[in-house]
Formats: sequence, structure tokens, C-alpha cells
Amino acid sequence: MPRHFLRDDDLTPDEQTAVLDLADRLKADPLGSRPLAGPRSVAVIFEKNSTRTRLSFEVGIAQLGGHPITVDSRTMQLGREETIEDTSRVLSRYVDAVVWRTFAQARMDAMASVSAVPVVNALTDEFHPCQALADLQTIREHHGRLAGLTLTFLGDGANNMAHSLMLAGVTAGMHVRVGAPEGFRPLASVLEAANRRAADTGGSVRLDHDPARAVEGADVVVTDTWTSMGQENDGKDRVGPFRPFQINGSLLAGAAERVAVLHCLPAHRGWEITDEVLDGPHSLVWDEAENRLHAQKALLWWLLADGDVAVDGGSE
Ligand code: CP
Ligand code: NVA
Repeated sequence: MPRHFLRDDDLTPDEQTAVLDLADRLKADPLGSRPLAGPRSVAVIFEKNSTRTRLSFEVGIAQLGGHPITVDSRTMQLGREETIEDTSRVLSRYVDAVVWRTFAQARMDAMASVSAVPVVNALTDEFHPCQALADLQTIREHHGRLAGLTLTFLGDGANNMAHSLMLAGVTAGMHVRVGAPEGFRPLASVLEAANRRAADTGGSVRLDHDPARAVEGADVVVTDTWTSMGQENDGKDRVGPFRPFQINGSLLAGAAERVAVLHCLPAHRGWEITDEVLDGPHSLVWDEAENRLHAQKALLWWLLADGDVAVDGGSE
């Protein structure tokens, strides 16, 4: 069975550290490793819009010596009732890995269930684990460590970034707080999974409906859009309840002195985050976007090598 990366807790704590170490190595020497030379091909398929994910996977696969094939799934037979499983069986006959952005996580699980090659989640409604890996790389660069740090996510507690940061954060031994309005709590199943993982790593998860309390003393403050792709017409008020959770200068003043501010982007300036903060001294969002490239290269290499990669150099 190939290794997949469908959600953040598919990596153990040690595996997550290995991928992050490899990401740092690839960042230091972006063109020095070509494990996909041959070339090995990777299908990168999108059922939703993308700027960063599409570009960073295409560039990253090429830098590793591989051949990226990017497809808008609306132009595939997948968009005309061919099943996910049949699509997956065919993809396995052509490519060495499948990267997919889709809607429900169940669709991602169906793709992986019959795949003979690694499947990577490039965002679902429930998780965005590639983004969370890049976020951890960025936080580690800034703070020099992950375990023991407090990370606060503000916004829709049930969105993909909230869920992924909960799972990825506790896997790294972090204390994750989710500051969200009533009615926008994380999925209970994700909360349970995060608590189970936290029990092994010394991390923790806490929910807060008071944004000031959620941010107090935090080492990292993260936000995301209040309306994720596919939620535009879900009938919920996605502005009013969220206003107190905007990251602005006065809310951020309650965080730690060296707080890092992250946002996966695209940002809705003046809504979930102010210009003052996004363009201010605590913001690491451009490094965070760059790290998508390094983290995903590391992940793909690691998955295709079945975890057998020497992080300190040499082996390909
Ligand atoms: N952060 C992120 O995944 O961006 P894109 O939607 O542009 O890929
Ligand atoms: N939560 C956002 C992330 C975009 C990268 C969405 O799903 O639209």
C-alpha cells in the first residue's frame, strides 16, 4: 500500500519532523536534489480555484526533476460521472502520485482507497494539510522550535485550516487554541482526533468564543477567510459573528511580543485581517506562501521514497 497524505495526522510526530527537516534542506538548496528525475510524473488536479497550490506544486515537481501534469477536473470525465474510483485506477497506470483539490474529504478518501500511488490532499472542505506543513516550517524558522508554543487560529473553527492546524499543531506538540463564534466550532471528530494525538505529544487544544482570551500570550496567530470555497451560498451569516475575531492591531497587542502572524492567503483585507497587520512587522505570510514550495517538495519526495530519505544530504 502506498503512503498517502490525506489529513495532517497521517504523519506521526517523528515523520512530521522528518518532512520538515527535509523541507529546510530543500529550501537551502532548491535545485540540488532530483529524486523525480526520469522523469516521474505527478497529476495535480483541481476541482476548486488555486493560485499558490497549483504554482508551488508545478514548480516543485519540476525542480525535483519530475513532470507535473496539471488538470482542471471540470475538463476530465470525472466531471461527467466517471467515478472517483475508476478515475483513480486509471491515474495509477500513468502517474507516480496524485495531488488533488476537491470538496468533501470523503471524495479524497475514495480516490486513495483504490490508488496504487500516493494521493496528496491539496485541500478539501475539511482539511488543508499541505498548507499546515508550510505553516509549521514558517513557525519553526521564526521561533526555532514548535513544541510548547501556543498557536491561536481565529475565524471559522469548522474550516479546513482550523482543522488542519489543530491536527498538525498538536502533532508537533503545540498548544492550539481555536477562537471562533458560537455555531462555528470544529467538527467533533477532528477535536477528538486532536485530543488523542495531543495526549501522545504533550500538546493541547482549547476552544474559545472570546477572541481576546484566545489571543492572550499567543506565539502564533493565524486566520483565514470567513467564507471558504463552496460556502458562498450556505445561508449562514459569515460576517456579523466573525467581526470580533478580525486580526487587527488592538487584538494582536494581547499576543506575545514576538508573535508570528500567518494567513494561508488569499486574504480578504479589511475583513478577517487588517492591512496594518498583514503588511506589518509580525506578518510572515510571504515566507509562508514560499514555504508551500519547499514543504510540498519534501512531502512528495518522502512519500515516493516511502519515508526512506536521508535528511542530512546525499541520498536520492
Ligand atoms: N493557500 C492556498 O492554498 O492558496 P490557493 O488557493 O491559491 O492555492
Ligand atoms: N479556507 C479556504 C482556504 C483557501 C486556501 C478555502 O477553503 O477556501
